[in-house]
Amino acid sequence: MPKVRFEPDGIEIEVPVGTSILEASNKAHAQVGSACGGVCACSTCHVYVKQGLGDLEGASDREEDIMDKAFDVRSNSRLGCQSKIEGEDATIVVAAIAAQAIPLVAQMKVQDSQDAVDAGNGNAALSAAKTAVSVEPWAASTHLQLALVDEQLGDLRTALREARAAVAHDDADWSLWVVRARLETKLGQIPAARQSLKRAAALNPHSPLFASNSSG
Ligand code: FES
Repeated sequence: MPKVRFEPDGIEIEVPVGTSILEASNKAHAQVGSACGGVCACSTCHVYVKQGLGDLEGASDREEDIMDKAFDVRSNSRLGCQSKIEGEDATIVVAAIAAQAIPLVAQMKVQDSQDAVDAGNGNAALSAAKTAVSVEPWAASTHLQLALVDEQLGDLRTALREARAAVAHDDADWSLWVVRARLETKLGQIPAARQSLKRAAALNPHSPLFASNSSG
């Protein structure tokens, strides 16, 4: 039976042929991420295959597309959810570093972007915000930062698209609805802005921001 070892913990498990690295990780309680649930849409299951790369099923075009947007891709990078083990006697050794590194890197990029805004450097702010989104596209905070930078640079349509993406990733955060409403207002989309503001007020009815709305 094939064997999979996870570094740096050294956790090892035997699994049947056809098992993916992510499935093996789940079984062994190792540290491979799976934000999209293993459907090849996020890259949190990014691993470095240190041994046994040739014993894995080849990467599909879809996996390669996701990998194009992943962080610190190397020649032995694979998505754990897409890497099924083919070799009967294979020993696969993987290092699952990406899941831990991604939030940190994205957060640092958001911070770099905020610093660049403070320093009045719009291009650097935009570039850092875009990198943050590409590193962690499922996080509301990265889309929010990109929305704010686009807004500052006057690209309101892109800003609204990013604000909507932020809301889509965390629709319980009232402040994201406020940003969305502001951009909709700036773009003249008044009915949509009213709806967004209504959602924000429903999520945070005690904010002083909505006091005049409720009385008037
Ligand atoms: S778990 Fe999301 S791409 Fe593998």
